[in-house]
Amino acid sequence: MTHEPLRTLYWENGSLFLLDQRLLPGEISYLECRTVEKVAEAIRAMVVRGAPAIGISAAFGMVLGARQLAAEGVGAPDMRRRLAGIAACLRSTRPTAVNLHWALCRMELRLEETAGLSGEEIIAMLEEEAQLMLSGDISTNRRIGVHGEPLIPDGASILTHCNAGALATAGYGTALGVIRAAAAAGKRLHVFVDETRPLLQGARLTALELRHEKIPVTLVADSCAGYLMASGKIDLVITGADRIAANGDTANKIGTYTLAVLARQHGIPFYIAAPCSTIDLSLEDGRGVVIEERNPSELTTLMGRQIAPAGIDALNPAFDVTPSELISALITERGVLYRPGRAGLAELMGKGER
Ligand code: MRU
Repeated sequence: MTHEPLRTLYWENGSLFLLDQRLLPGEISYLECRTVEKVAEAIRAMVVRGAPAIGISAAFGMVLGARQLAAEGVGAPDMRRRLAGIAACLRSTRPTAVNLHWALCRMELRLEETAGLSGEEIIAMLEEEAQLMLSGDISTNRRIGVHGEPLIPDGASILTHCNAGALATAGYGTALGVIRAAAAAGKRLHVFVDETRPLLQGARLTALELRHEKIPVTLVADSCAGYLMASGKIDLVITGADRIAANGDTANKIGTYTLAVLARQHGIPFYIAAPCSTIDLSLEDGRGVVIEERNPSELTTLMGRQIAPAGIDALNPAFDVTPSELISALITERGVLYRPGRAGLAELMGKGER
């Protein structure tokens, strides 16, 4: 493995290259996407995953869609109309993370500025917007790190879940960004990583990123969290988010809610690190979040091997919702919101451009 951080995604010569995260940590391979259909399928199949990363990938999917329409000879007015259909298709790939919707809305807003422009000019504008999203995400994450770093004491033992790292974003990460910033500030840390069944984002991805950064890391089974907290081995929990409702209720990888309940039981701070693009003020509370249900085969098989009786009924929700009252603070690029609630989130979102 190189000492350069792995690039989650990049745009080169009119193609989107996605690091195939299904193959990590064993194999580093990039999937080249030259069509919007391929991008949509890659998001669905979780070649690329993590709320910000799927948003940015969808934005480049719009660029590819526009290029395909131009290649078919579709003129500018029709191109704008048909791109709305393409956005709808990309939006449907994964329903829970609002960043996907946010990124596509941003592309659609840009499209509204293209009246009177040629097809080539529309494509150039969309590409520019997608590139801005890519570079903006990294600087957003670095600001999350700057705001979150003071919350991490020197010597802290941290528990995290799933992967909210460079691999879930354009780079640096949200929850892992805070951990990176604390390590860069010279703090001694130890990170416990939940394996994150069923797709093992913790074991495969977060453990890989932390090892790469030389931050001490210990992998644990998801069911180990209560034991660790009860034995006094955890000082704080930090995770990312997929959608934060107006009252602060937060959807994230299945199992996050369990950690928040356990943290409250043991008097341990529970932090969420996320960009403001993850906040969805249109949702009153967490009851409105659509929870993606994935194929039960993700539970009944492991590495291609059947691990449960054939034909067993299995339920595979990919996310759960943590009620805001269990969240000690929300760490964003605009600052830290302690005990995030309706008024605080509204004020945070009124503070600047989304
Ligand atoms: O199903 P995934 O792997 O896309 O789920 C990812 C998560 O739940 C992350 O914690 C979340 O997207 C935040 S990523 C910065």
